[in-house]
Amino acid sequence: METPPRPELFDFHGIPMTKYFTDNWDNVTNFEAKADDIVIATYPKSGTTWVCYLLDRLYFGKTHPEEETSLPLYIRVPFLELCIPGHPKGKDLADQLTITPRLIKTHLPVQLVPDTFWERNCRVIYVARNPKDVAVSHFHFCRMNSIHPAPGNWEGFLQRFMDGNMVYGPWHDHVIGWWEKKKTYPNLHYIFYEDLTENLAEEIDKLCRFLDLTPSAEEKESIISAVKFDSMKDNKLTNFTNAPLMNLTLSPFMRKGKVGDWKNHFTVAQSEECDEHYKQKIRNPALQFRTEV
Ligand code: PPS
Repeated sequence: METPPRPELFDFHGIPMTKYFTDNWDNVTNFEAKADDIVIATYPKSGTTWVCYLLDRLYFGKTHPEEETSLPLYIRVPFLELCIPGHPKGKDLADQLTITPRLIKTHLPVQLVPDTFWERNCRVIYVARNPKDVAVSHFHFCRMNSIHPAPGNWEGFLQRFMDGNMVYGPWHDHVIGWWEKKKTYPNLHYIFYEDLTENLAEEIDKLCRFLDLTPSAEEKESIISAVKFDSMKDNKLTNFTNAPLMNLTLSPFMRKGKVGDWKNHFTVAQSEECDEHYKQKIRNPALQFRTEV
């Protein structure tokens, strides 16, 4: 398929967005959630795929092993607002799911999430990652994924990231918006990528308590092994092999999978500027991000 042109950012309800995440908006915003749907929400490049696969294994590893070996994860866990040429719309894929619970991915800021998820009190899992690693991961992703505006050079990209002139808006507004939502919406479990990296078993236990799941020790071991970075990188159904509009030869989707790769990209001055920016924006001491573990 011919690669469509890189999209432009435009203001969409106060958030910079592109057509690939807004073209199906009426259907997305009117999405009919079911009470047992599970939403995985993130700012891009924060560990979405990791947690989607973890959930997929927790729910369906035993009951639907045939799908585990035949359908790409991006079909099993639809990306709700995605609307790109040559690929079914995320909303339609979600509607077509026959399994229960439906696992649904979104990058929307909290204020743009379809109302029926809140009205039906769906479980929501938010995954957050420190801004320096998000910026680096996003930069490489934009190089290889033509549904995003071209990244330009690293310096300019980082400036745009700090200015919040990115698809889905400023990182800090996203992570704060979802953090604050917990106050009024208890059915929300907030996870940090850095914690997953540091102690995956413990994070799975917390997740299972939130989901009322009780996997056996053996199942848990098998899930931990399947969701390891190297396993997911080697797995064609989780590493985005054949995904539309991604050129994995420019940068693999499963790139580094580490906390602290930012140190290979940031100058000292960029790191200090980012730290200062973070201090100005994240003023809630309860919300803490770690840039190393
Ligand atoms: S997306 O496109 O927004 O949905 O991307 P997302 O899945 O949120 O983030 C991609 C980054 O997550 C890393 N990743 C992992 N890290 C550790 N362990 C596992 N299993 C794992 N799976 C995905 C992936 O490598 C991207 O980070 P970077 O830093 O680019 O490597």
